[in-house]
Amino acid sequence: MDFTDQRLSYEKGELDQSLVPESPFTLFKAWMNEALEQKVQEPYAMSLATCGADNKPSVRIVLLREVTDTGIVFYTNYESAKGQDIAQNPNAEVLFFWHELERQVRISGSIAKIAADKSAEYFQKRPHDSQVGAWVSQPQSGEVANREVMEDKFAQLLQEYPQDTKVPTPEFWGGYEITIERIEFWQGRANRVHDRIVYSKENNRWTTKRLLP
Ligand SMILES: Cc1cc2nc3c(=O)[nH]c(=O)nc-3n(C[C@H](O)[C@H](O)[C@H](O)COP(=O)(O)O)c2cc1C
Repeated sequence: MDFTDQRLSYEKGELDQSLVPESPFTLFKAWMNEALEQKVQEPYAMSLATCGADNKPSVRIVLLREVTDTGIVFYTNYESAKGQDIAQNPNAEVLFFWHELERQVRISGSIAKIAADKSAEYFQKRPHDSQVGAWVSQPQSGEVANREVMEDKFAQLLQEYPQDTKVPTPEFWGGYEITIERIEFWQGRANRVHDRIVYSKENNRWTTKRLLP
């Protein structure tokens, strides 16, 4: 396949360094709200890059579940491939791409498990069958012989935990928070002369820079 003739001109917005808010959280929430308003499908889906001791990066989508005062939270299986990467190297980067807005947001920082009671609180709010699904997918990223194995396990767990009964929160499952250390806002512009404004934390204060696109 050849895509060298395919190109779009990005002309939907602009980003002026002198007009960006002091806190990147304000800008991130504003952009996320616009993405929701513009009906971007699952704008809170983000690509999460991790890198374990083997120095080989891995990337996959996870769902942003909360923006706190310090960072962003997602949920997963702590024993998954990403969980193992994170145990070996607490640096992570996530990427949002909102095509409809011609925007990307890139967040990096250190990553740590959130409190177990907070994970349990969220787990218990999830739909019953998704809770069962978390038990089926253990250990996440491990090999399974075929789909039937998973479906049998699901059916067996449904007998153990019928609808309307409490599914216990697995110890191997929970949230991670990425404490934001750097966040870059990218707005596509015409002629590939895009706007890139990056916030980083220095002495507990946010500073901004414009980067060449
Ligand atoms: C739209 C979408 C949302 C996803 N959300 C999550 C999520 O929130 N948590 C999660 O563990 N995996 C989620 N996944 C699955 C992951 O991309 C990945 O396949 C899984 O976590 C295993 O990754 P790993 O083997 O690198 O640990 C999602 C996938 C897609 C496409």
